[in-house]
Amino acid sequence: MTAVSRAAPIVVERREEAEVALAREIVELVRRKRRVVLGLATGSTMTGLYRELARRRVDEVVDFGGVVTFNLDEYLDLQRSHAATLAKWTEERVLAPLGIAAENAHFLSSDVRGAGVAEDCLAYERAIEDAGGIDLQILGLGRDGHIAFNEPGSSRESRTREVDLHEWTREDAAAAFGGLEAVPERAVTMGVATILEATRIRVLAFGARKAVVARRMFEDPIGPALPATFLREHEDLVVWLDREATVLA
Ligand code: GLP
Repeated sequence: MTAVSRAAPIVVERREEAEVALAREIVELVRRKRRVVLGLATGSTMTGLYRELARRRVDEVVDFGGVVTFNLDEYLDLQRSHAATLAKWTEERVLAPLGIAAENAHFLSSDVRGAGVAEDCLAYERAIEDAGGIDLQILGLGRDGHIAFNEPGSSRESRTREVDLHEWTREDAAAAFGGLEAVPERAVTMGVATILEATRIRVLAFGARKAVVARRMFEDPIGPALPATFLREHEDLVVWLDREATVLA
């Protein structure tokens, strides 16, 4: 880790260029290392990347069978079978298309209660450690500067834990739940410290709605007011923005 950021974003004309670059890096890693540990982000930004990986699995005969995954976060107060869990999202868009077995995929639980939440979070931290740590963490940015569900106010030292979701985050999730009222108010997320322990961090942010957060991520002082700023302390960070994400309205 370095205290001073050397980070600057890579700006691409079209998001596909970033998806191809990151997919290529992941495939190289998977080919080189038998057991690669990937940290997975969900959300609309990631769909093209996962499609590109699935295409390469077939066209370039890539075997993802040795890949171990850890999702970044999950909603709380949802039944495991609920269609909007991030686990389900990942099963459909990542695990099945890439042929990653269920026993290699790790999720935080959406249906634990009371003391079970903290226990689940602690077990998740241990599982990441037991897996040897995360080799490459895929990340998106929330409009309010969150990474995973580390909302503004999250500290540099935060670990996997329960959080309250910001209003903007709930609004952005409303479509997946068929309305804002149905979006959970609580979630569980890897902490900022957990994310920063990944060997490589790769961020994608596309479109005009990410322009403000993408700018602030590099220009604001590093601190909990905008958790994405903490990423600048990581020594192997790459951030891809498409042109639209660099234009402030
Ligand atoms: C969600 C997720 C993040 C994701 C972000 C951006 O709340 N917890 O992991 O990166 O918001 O989502 P999208 O790609 O849909 O804009």
